[in-house]
Amino acid sequence: MDSDDPREAIDHALHAAVRAPSVHNTQPWRFVVRGPVVEVCLDGDRVLTVADPDGREARLSCGAALLNLRVALRAAGRAVVVDPLPDPAHPELLATVRVAGRRPATPAERDLADAVGNRTTNRRPFVDRIVPGSERSALVAAADAEGAHLLLLDTPRALETFATLLRRADQRQEDDPDYQAELRAWTTGDPARHDGVPSAAGGPRPAGTPLLKLRDYPGRRTAEREFEQDPLVAMVTTAGDTALDHLRAGQAMQRALLVATSAGLGASFFSQPIEQPDLRAALRTGLTAGAHPQAVLRIGYGHRGAPTPRRPVAEVTSYRTE
Ligand SMILES: Cc1cc2nc3c(=O)[nH]c(=O)nc-3n(C[C@H](O)[C@H](O)[C@H](O)COP(=O)(O)O)c2cc1C
Repeated sequence: MDSDDPREAIDHALHAAVRAPSVHNTQPWRFVVRGPVVEVCLDGDRVLTVADPDGREARLSCGAALLNLRVALRAAGRAVVVDPLPDPAHPELLATVRVAGRRPATPAERDLADAVGNRTTNRRPFVDRIVPGSERSALVAAADAEGAHLLLLDTPRALETFATLLRRADQRQEDDPDYQAELRAWTTGDPARHDGVPSAAGGPRPAGTPLLKLRDYPGRRTAEREFEQDPLVAMVTTAGDTALDHLRAGQAMQRALLVATSAGLGASFFSQPIEQPDLRAALRTGLTAGAHPQAVLRIGYGHRGAPTPRRPVAEVTSYRTE
């Protein structure tokens, strides 16, 4: 193969792309490779009809896969040109990524690429160790670099406002039979399945009533553990709320998660209030000064969990010669 042929780098980058986080591990992506171009597409059959009827979280998940793809190509010394939402007639085509020659990777780009395979969602308790200011700034800068913002909920008042809306959202979802049926369908104890959240990934039940309630996956192990007293909670926000904003938010979330992983930090999500339009609106009024909440992360130090399954690259990729 000639040394400028990008096929090998693209193949490696697709393996990185599918390691992205996705809501309920739905992996709502498809890739089409045409020579040096990779098309990143939304798989509409994998959008959650109850939790995510507009496909916003699916687009965030695809944005995370897009970031992994870009980062892996850069680490392989490839220059990339990204065209987001290139065809208004095909909104499921979220972006094209074109390999455009060679450009050496920086050490920071290589660190990010190394973090792709080490990142997992960590729903277990974190240790009570404060995330230092330098790491907080690096997380904020990561989201900024992708055209979104990371709002740190670092005052007791902000945390309490969020906790109140989170409790309300979580209770509603627990009481909603349709939501629960969808969650059950995507929670799995079947080791042969390549998608869904394995019940073991749900983490232990909290002892007592924690300030911030993680999503309760069915079949969660019954062991009870104390959760950290002072978690770092950070919200990815965008100025608008279009498909392009969702794609940006997904890339920003993923860049922040990779920076966190490189710094030895774990993260999990609190999406419950963002999944409900009235509570999402309340977050805008109470916390974000009108910016649109896209994802909420709980960040801290803890022991990393096992990786969750993925559909093989061959199952989600087609190759075209035309
Ligand atoms: C947009 C988005 C929202 C998510 N929301 C939640 C959530 O509310 N609670 C949760 O425990 N995990 C949430 N997750 C994490 C996924 O369940 C997780 O990424 C998936 O199961 C794959 O596992 P991994 O992240 O360990 O690779 C979310 C992920 C994404 C991308």
